Amino acid sequence: MLHLRSAQTCVTGRTAVDGYAAAAQYYDLLHAERTAARARALLGAAGGEIRHGILDLGAGTGSVIAALAAEVPEVPIVAVEPSVGMRTALYARLAADPSLRGRTTVVPDAAERFAVSEGFADLAVCLDTSPAFPPPYRPDIWQRVRDALVPGGVFLLDEPALTEPVVQQPRELGRVAVGTHTVVGSVRGEPAGQRQWWEYRYTVLDAEGEVLSEEETEFYTWPMSSEDLRAELAEAGFVLKDDIELDGLTVLQAVTGP
Ligand SMILES: C[S@@+](CC[C@H](N)C(=O)[O-])C[C@H]1O[C@@H](n2cnc3c(N)ncnc32)[C@H](O)[C@@H]1O
Repeated sequence: MLHLRSAQTCVTGRTAVDGYAAAAQYYDLLHAERTAARARALLGAAGGEIRHGILDLGAGTGSVIAALAAEVPEVPIVAVEPSVGMRTALYARLAADPSLRGRTTVVPDAAERFAVSEGFADLAVCLDTSPAFPPPYRPDIWQRVRDALVPGGVFLLDEPALTEPVVQQPRELGRVAVGTHTVVGSVRGEPAGQRQWWEYRYTVLDAEGEVLSEEETEFYTWPMSSEDLRAELAEAGFVLKDDIELDGLTVLQAVTGP
């Protein structure tokens, strides 16, 4: 029997489970270098000039937008992020970078509900996030991303890692020294009907390797096939260009028509 033990948070009056509550404090330590490098590589591979704006769905702690912002002109950025934990890290990043703060608008909502200006962006990204979108909402989400883009705008999103729910044996995500302590992240997963259940565990070790603290966070994702995702994007009015292959990751390039 699986139980959600994550913190409850309230976004614009709606109560939602913050599946990233425990992860947020360690997220940048374990992932930001990789996610920023990937964002830079993607931008280079996609080519084209960014002249209007950037939309990031599931912006997390903002490592992707910060990396993109450093490479493009002073265009506005909209970061959609429902987790109060992740937004805490995102706002801290903006507080430390007045230039990024001045051009970034944070939308504290899920992709299922976000609203942004039409045609404000020429680049939309959704990285490591789309399997979190419940299937019935996905077609509408893709349409709203398309509407947010100018004609010829590009939507970059990674191909789902799982096409069906499968047992994921526990594996370490990384370990990082912080002073005399070490933060260790690990993950495991199990099928849960049509969904995939994930548990991320964060352990802090002291200098002797003794466990000082241990926290878990749990959430579900919806596996889907690449074919289904491509079909949904085409249905929403996108044209699929050549995929971008990055260190074993396939990233879809969905382009809006004229
Ligand atoms: C694995 S993190 C990736 C963050 C960022 N895109 C990156 O690459 O570093 C997934 C993010 O998606 C967010 N998320 C989860 N469900 C979401 C939803 N329904 N709509 C928008 N974002 C969601 C989480 O709060 C989390 O910040």
